[in-house]
Amino acid sequence: MASSNYEKIKSDGSLLGNVMEWVDARFPLTENWKGHLSEYYAPKNFNFWYFFGSLALLVLVMQIVTGIFLVMHYKPDASLNAAGVPVAFASVEYIMRDVPWGWLIRYMHSTGASAFFIVVYLHMFRAMLYGSYRKPRELLWIFGVLIYLCLMAEAFAGYLLPWGQMSYWGAQVILNLFSAIPFIGNDLTLWIRGDYVIADATLNRMFAFHVIAIPLALLGLVAAHILALHEVGSNNPDGIEIKKHKDPQTGIPLDGIPFHPYYTVKDIVGTVVFLAAFSIIVFFAPELGGYFLEYNNYIPADPLVTPPHIAPVWYFTPFYSILRANTVNFFWIDAKLWGVIFMGLGVMILFFLPWLDRSPAKSIRYRGPIYKSALAVFIVAFFILGYLGMQSPTPVFTIISQICTIIYFLFFLLMPWYSRIDKCKPEPERVTQ
Ligand code: HEM
Repeated sequence: MASSNYEKIKSDGSLLGNVMEWVDARFPLTENWKGHLSEYYAPKNFNFWYFFGSLALLVLVMQIVTGIFLVMHYKPDASLNAAGVPVAFASVEYIMRDVPWGWLIRYMHSTGASAFFIVVYLHMFRAMLYGSYRKPRELLWIFGVLIYLCLMAEAFAGYLLPWGQMSYWGAQVILNLFSAIPFIGNDLTLWIRGDYVIADATLNRMFAFHVIAIPLALLGLVAAHILALHEVGSNNPDGIEIKKHKDPQTGIPLDGIPFHPYYTVKDIVGTVVFLAAFSIIVFFAPELGGYFLEYNNYIPADPLVTPPHIAPVWYFTPFYSILRANTVNFFWIDAKLWGVIFMGLGVMILFFLPWLDRSPAKSIRYRGPIYKSALAVFIVAFFILGYLGMQSPTPVFTIISQICTIIYFLFFLLMPWYSRIDKCKPEPERVTQ
């Protein structure tokens, strides 16, 4: 039906039809429009959890556009200006106070960073709810984890740019972790920093990573992510494959509807709700009590004054907690290196999720009580780790973070066992509404 419409327009002799005909003879525009939108058949039972992929795309575009405008005025320069303030810090203040609408662009970008992680964490959680990482979507998931790694690197490099106290000392803590690696650690840290201390060379390279290298990688990975998704088709809240039941005549999945216009329109709802919440934060609480922009970062970087409390931004804190939970030297490896190893493993283990999960059912709707409880406990532990990562360590907090770190890893490591013995309900043949 839809395809005949395009053919009709192309042959009706109108200007639009002629332009389409001309373009299609030189570039597969209609073919791609159809393949990825108007004839991409998505399951008809998507719920609100399926908003977060398109929202992640929206935030990605927003970050790139606001980033371009910020770069027009930002200066990656750690030297001091006539007033004794680092040029980079002063350029951000200039954007905030003197550039027309600069404050809006900057707050959109800083809020966008946190919004990106909120959206992506919810997007990943959705995949865990409905088993979207399972066969045949393993590669799609792997591209997702690579995107997540790039996002972390992007946020880390970006946070250094305002050259405030938290930029400086946060980078100091994280870059120092590399020195825990045996034999090559110190040389590696020196190589990454580009100087014996965090300095102008560090700022310049983080700028290069933040504005070009990592965004390029991110865009490539997002394209691969969506191509992989469209190759295998979307999962859905029932966790069953709609391609198993196709109309014998048209070959279209019986439970599928064209992505465009049905989901392009539905996604507008998610976009409006998201933009409303986003605007409230940007206009009324851009620092969000120090969670989105830390107060110490309004003080220019000073290598001689260590802030009393150094904590990363909220989206890193679960992993920061895992790092700090390692307090004992074990074998010949000291606690700091164990911390680095576990923090790295905490992210890397996500790559293996598709193969750790052995449940006969994909979606949480048909899984048994063991998986449901394990996922709930895992999420609670993740939140506690996140909270503790923002606090100064105390003996009690350290013990709690050790318990939560154990829960975090057991969730994954025991999954091959508990997901198999769980009592699942039978999955339906066709999607339920
Ligand atoms: C820049 C970040 C990202 C963007 C723009 C993005 C984009 C999308 C889009 C547009 C979809 C289809 C719509 C939807 O299912 O919501 C999707 C699906 C999916 N994404 Fe992402 N994604 C991102 C990050 C991630 C990450 C970090 C992961 C996991 C580690 C991930 C895993 C998945 C999975 C498993 C699906 C298939 C879901 C299903 O069919 O049920 N994505 N993504």
